[in-house]
Amino acid sequence: MTALDTAAGSSAAPRTPTRVGIIGCGAIIQQYLTTFDALNAVTLVAVADLDPARAEAVAEGRDGVRAVSVDDLLAADDVEVVLNLTIPAAHAEVALRAIAAGKAVYGEKPLTATVDEAKTVLAAAKTAGVAVGCAPDTVLGTGIQTARKAIDDGLIGSPISATATMTTPGHERWHPNPDFYYVPGGGPLLDMGPYYVTSLVTLLGPVTSVIGAASRTRSTRTIGSGPREGETIPVSTDSHVTGILTHASGALSTLLMSFDAVGTKAANLEVHGETGSLVVPDPNRFDGDVQLRPLGSLEWDVLPVSAGYTDAGRGIGVADLAATPEGESPRASGALAFHVLEVMESLLISAQSGQSEPIVSTIDRPSPVPLQGINAAG
Ligand SMILES: NC(=O)c1ccc[n+]([C@@H]2O[C@H](COP(=O)([O-])OP(=O)(O)OC[C@H]3O[C@@H](n4cnc5c(N)ncnc54)[C@H](O)[C@@H]3O)[C@@H](O)[C@H]2O)c1
Repeated sequence: MTALDTAAGSSAAPRTPTRVGIIGCGAIIQQYLTTFDALNAVTLVAVADLDPARAEAVAEGRDGVRAVSVDDLLAADDVEVVLNLTIPAAHAEVALRAIAAGKAVYGEKPLTATVDEAKTVLAAAKTAGVAVGCAPDTVLGTGIQTARKAIDDGLIGSPISATATMTTPGHERWHPNPDFYYVPGGGPLLDMGPYYVTSLVTLLGPVTSVIGAASRTRSTRTIGSGPREGETIPVSTDSHVTGILTHASGALSTLLMSFDAVGTKAANLEVHGETGSLVVPDPNRFDGDVQLRPLGSLEWDVLPVSAGYTDAGRGIGVADLAATPEGESPRASGALAFHVLEVMESLLISAQSGQSEPIVSTIDRPSPVPLQGINAAG
């Protein structure tokens, strides 16, 4: 029996494939559709959006997928997992409605816009006995998983520190509706931080305290594409965030997340140990080269791919959740996303207060993913 059977309160054998309904048919949905087309374990049955035309456009031409209202999707007997692809400000509301309808829920990142909202969601899920999963599932791909295996196999010795660097001059250049990136719940940290902080927790374990500093370069942004091109939108969140994370192991991670900096030549992620350093590929992707420089060498060696889902895309976390054995936590779990959200929110609180902030929640590292194809999820 899987976590999903438990979540659904069923003692029957798992139904395969797991039937998914998506709420939120915006920019990111196409990546999920592509993954679901390739996955045997997941079938999309319904889509919904506040804007019915968006749902209809997704369903059109897709056999077995119907466009419905949000209410009808939540009431549908054949929807086992609600995939929440709405904007961060709506993540909690949609998740709570799915949970109230007795559905397991898997959402895009961040888990919710605030830690308080996330507490409500996880408490409701616990009471209802439904599973909660959350992006990013990029960390289940070969890039981060090969790096994790290298660390776990002792290739860099005892880990000491890491750096995480993400710079872009802003998503408003390409996203047609970028408003959510510049309000609380967005910003470079809550938008891109989940990839980096989830990776750091996967590689180095939970975080016990943080120190942050943040700034806001501009009070408005100008949309660069789509029907609203040229429109100015307000900025009400910090757009450049830096910080230091102290892990329970004693390792220190240094973080830089910016919607202000134009570019960087720094690696997305580096991890340093007593006997070696690793360059870890972009955690917003599923693959990429992991490079090792052992102590005493001047060369960086590309490590062979040794762990993770191969050829994965956004949505592999849904299959992983559906395949999770009863009593075990899904790898891309709500609890992990909660810890990551607390780390991020605490960085912003610290940036305001100037004080180090303790992290109350903790989490075991999710179980490693053996090297396998996406249709072997489990
Ligand atoms: N765009 C990307 O490249 C990208 C990449 C990774 C993750 N994400 C994440 O995916 C999520 C969605 O991002 P997006 O870029 O697709 O946003 P988007 O604005 O393009 O689409 C969001 C959709 O959700 C709908 N929606 C909003 N509130 C709703 C509600 N209460 N009920 C039903 N529908 C609702 C909107 O009408 C819209 O169609 C965000 O959490 C984002 O962080 C986006």
